Amino acid sequence: MRYKSTVILAIETSCDDTCAAVVADSVADGSGGRRALSNVVHTQTEHARYGGVVPEVASRAHLERLDGVVEAALSEAGVTLDDIESIAVTVRPGLIGALLVGLSAAKGLAYARGLPLIPVDHLEGHVAAAYLTDPDLEPPFIAGIASGGHTALYSVDGDHGLHLLGKTLDDAAGEALDKGARMLGLGFPGGPALSKAAASGDPGRYEFPIALMQKDSLDFSFSGLKTSLLYRLKELDEVQVREALPDLAAGYEAAVVEALSRKLLRAVEREGASTLVVAGGVAANAPLRRRLGEACHASGTRLVIPSPDLCTDNAAMIGAAALYTPRVPYPEYLDLNARSI
Ligand code: KG4
Ligand code: ZN
Repeated sequence: MRYKSTVILAIETSCDDTCAAVVADSVADGSGGRRALSNVVHTQTEHARYGGVVPEVASRAHLERLDGVVEAALSEAGVTLDDIESIAVTVRPGLIGALLVGLSAAKGLAYARGLPLIPVDHLEGHVAAAYLTDPDLEPPFIAGIASGGHTALYSVDGDHGLHLLGKTLDDAAGEALDKGARMLGLGFPGGPALSKAAASGDPGRYEFPIALMQKDSLDFSFSGLKTSLLYRLKELDEVQVREALPDLAAGYEAAVVEALSRKLLRAVEREGASTLVVAGGVAANAPLRRRLGEACHASGTRLVIPSPDLCTDNAAMIGAAALYTPRVPYPEYLDLNARSI
């Protein structure tokens, strides 16, 4: 079911990006296509020196930035709060303090403007980014989410619900990329840093394990890959590591891409699906997009991968998911709570 909100203000603060967006629903205004009128992301740079996200630092930075980000989202969309019909906000999963900043702001805005609140699951948001990419997309389809916190495969049915087919048994794909990049002395976030280092590398020089588990399993595992890089690095001295860096980065990235691709394609085949959606920060990865593009072209599978800015955390995807999520009226929304999982 699609709820007919015309203009939604969406807020996303589940991790280290402070995000706000305005999303319009064409069902109500008849202008054709669900679309983001604005999508403002402020990426917190405070975490770079720690090599990972520090929850307390993230909450404080959201608090400082959110007002400005919301104002920018309204102004870039060319609307004011008078035009907004509901407020959408990520309520789970994520860093609890970070989520609470967004949820409190959303409750305040909803109360002040007399608007309903739409609580959104972050993972449903990642999948919903695909609805903004392909206005004709409707379930059923297979969705793979690969981000810094999650790696999972779902079948998405007519009511837009996510039904779990498989998930990582240890690290998320993005986490594996971030940890590998850190071991190689590259920057954070590791995915883009590894890609940059890998660009001139030979992925065939160093082979890394691709964990595929049992034949029929749709679960993932990335911890062996990480350990394998650790052992490789122990065999090399500092000068050798520097010389081999592009090849190590390329081999490591290729192993993550291959593990993800094979499982996604296996799910499509097993479920007899005709459409594959891939989302989450790791779906911004160019080699992954290429690999899946070629395989889906060959098999005649429709592949929908949002543009890189809609793959990494953003609020437009939360607004898109809100189109299919029931609104909560006043005063019920005052009881809504954030959940870390
Ligand atoms: O979805 P996201 O922005 O945040 C979470 O919900 O976790 O995903 C962040 C993850 C990080 O691990 C980051 O290294 C990875 O996505 N990532 C990439 C790329 N851009 C971000 N991984 C590979 N290639 C990229 N271009
Ligand atoms: Zn995310």
